[in-house]
Amino acid sequence: MTLNGKEVGFAMTGSFCTFSVIFKELERIVATGANVTPIFSYAVQNIDCRFGKSKEFYETAKKITGNNPILTLETAEPIGPKCLLDILIIAPCTGNSLAKLSLAITDTPVLMAAKAHLRNDKPIVIFPSTNDALSMNFKNIGSLLNCKNVFFVPFSQDNHIKKPNSLVADPSSILETAEMALDGKQLQPIILPPK
Ligand SMILES: Cc1cc2nc3c(=O)[nH]c(=O)nc-3n(C[C@H](O)[C@H](O)[C@H](O)COP(=O)(O)O)c2cc1C
Repeated sequence: MTLNGKEVGFAMTGSFCTFSVIFKELERIVATGANVTPIFSYAVQNIDCRFGKSKEFYETAKKITGNNPILTLETAEPIGPKCLLDILIIAPCTGNSLAKLSLAITDTPVLMAAKAHLRNDKPIVIFPSTNDALSMNFKNIGSLLNCKNVFFVPFSQDNHIKKPNSLVADPSSILETAEMALDGKQLQPIILPPK
């Protein structure tokens, strides 16, 4: 199913090194004709780093989507009762947010949006990007893979020599993963060859 005419939540968490490519994919998603609402974790709202400043992330997301990012628990919460989204994409998804989501923790706007959205039995797409994916977070990825309405953007080891536990999803597959998730299907193969 295409994203044209759909209400899409685009949630960003603090894997800052991916932001420049993720914003390009966000442009592609908006170009489908979807109405896209950005949602920022507190880390994204507050951290300035070598990959950019929090204020710039806010302005870029707003410019691409035409919508103000959701920044609080109380503005994310209505996603549930008002049934505001057709699909929620968490891209990038940190190890921190992955772990919390798998344990049903709801203490950031992104996680609140996920909880609210899942209540409506609708799909979530996760773009993992974390150095501990094959170590501390492997069990959480496994748990989420086995979770109803949760889909993963296909991923690979991004540097198996220097970062043997790291996985990063393929940015160019976000759109296709979301389209298939709307039909209740996981894009395959989910594990891609190493980069
Ligand atoms: C410059 C920088 C880059 C980071 N890159 C990543 C990353 O790629 N993956 C990850 O899981 N965490 C990364 N982190 C750590 C997260 O930002 C941190 O765990 C934060 O608490 C995540 O919160 P959130 O999941 O609510 O956004 C990075 C932190 C900084 C400062």
